[in-house]
Amino acid sequence: MSRKKIALIGAGQIGGTLALLSGLRNLGDVVLYDVVEGMPQGKALDLQHLAPVFGCDFAVKGTNDIRDIQGADVCVVTSGIPRKPGMSRDDLVKTNADIIRKVGEGIKTYAPQAFVIVITNPLDAMAYLMQQVTGFPAERVVGMAGVLDTARYQAFLAEELKVSVSSVSAFVLGGHGDDMVPVRSYTTCGGVPIDKLISSERLDAIEKRVRGAGGEVVALLKTGSAFYSPAASAIQMVEAYLFDQKKVLAAAVRCTGEYGLDKVYLGLPIILGSKGVEKILEIELRDEERKALHESAGRVQGLIDIL
Ligand code: APR
Repeated sequence: MSRKKIALIGAGQIGGTLALLSGLRNLGDVVLYDVVEGMPQGKALDLQHLAPVFGCDFAVKGTNDIRDIQGADVCVVTSGIPRKPGMSRDDLVKTNADIIRKVGEGIKTYAPQAFVIVITNPLDAMAYLMQQVTGFPAERVVGMAGVLDTARYQAFLAEELKVSVSSVSAFVLGGHGDDMVPVRSYTTCGGVPIDKLISSERLDAIEKRVRGAGGEVVALLKTGSAFYSPAASAIQMVEAYLFDQKKVLAAAVRCTGEYGLDKVYLGLPIILGSKGVEKILEIELRDEERKALHESAGRVQGLIDIL
């Protein structure tokens, strides 16, 4: 069996971390592509020197030539500009849309069979645009946000309850913006509904922090946005696809009538396996959760309309 090929479109903070994690987890060979000359090559050389330390047999190539992604099994897209303090993800729409259009054409030409994961913000609108530009079936173009937003919710809940993060099961749905929807009705700790363990006032405060968690990181970093956790979240999705794990997770996908939503890309619960999005799960939501999901979809649709 030949090794899988993972193309990382954008070799910045998240792209570099993706390359590192792909190598450490033996996912396949990696191509790091970026427009900045020397940077992807430098990161690739550095990673080549890390491989013997951990005994990871992976080839990693840095390049400024999009043709090097030829035949990639998976493309993870981070090309674009990140937020600065005070900016919302939506402020990035015009600049990043141009970049997505460009790299989307490259993916369509050189990696026509790839499964594509978009991380570039504003994420849901950029995933929508990528699917339009490539013309790939919607099952093969997703956005990574739900895994990260859910992980942030899990981390804060575990901290609150002083338990292992692995004991907390949660879902954050909707768009990757400050209107994302932590779904309290499906969030549990050790199988116990979360609202039986934490007061609703504390849950309100924790969920508010989850919605602003990306901005909290941006404000602290001052230059750039979160990169370790977004990269880790995308790696979980790459693994689910490459190893046909049929994992249930939240991802930005194209709605086809689910939850009364159509065509827009939005974070929903899915089953992710070797066919990509194998199923969008329709779960019963509380009235206020469904309303919040629709409001979030409205904001994403507003961005799509700008495109
Ligand atoms: N083709 C390829 N790479 C590009 C292009 C392009 N047309 N335009 C920009 N890039 C590259 C930049 O040169 C940079 O190296 O994209 C990279 C982005 O990396 P960073 O600036 O370090 O940003 P990062 O933290 O990785 O975030 C990337 O993900 O979470 C989102 O909001 C974030 O939109 C941002 C994206």
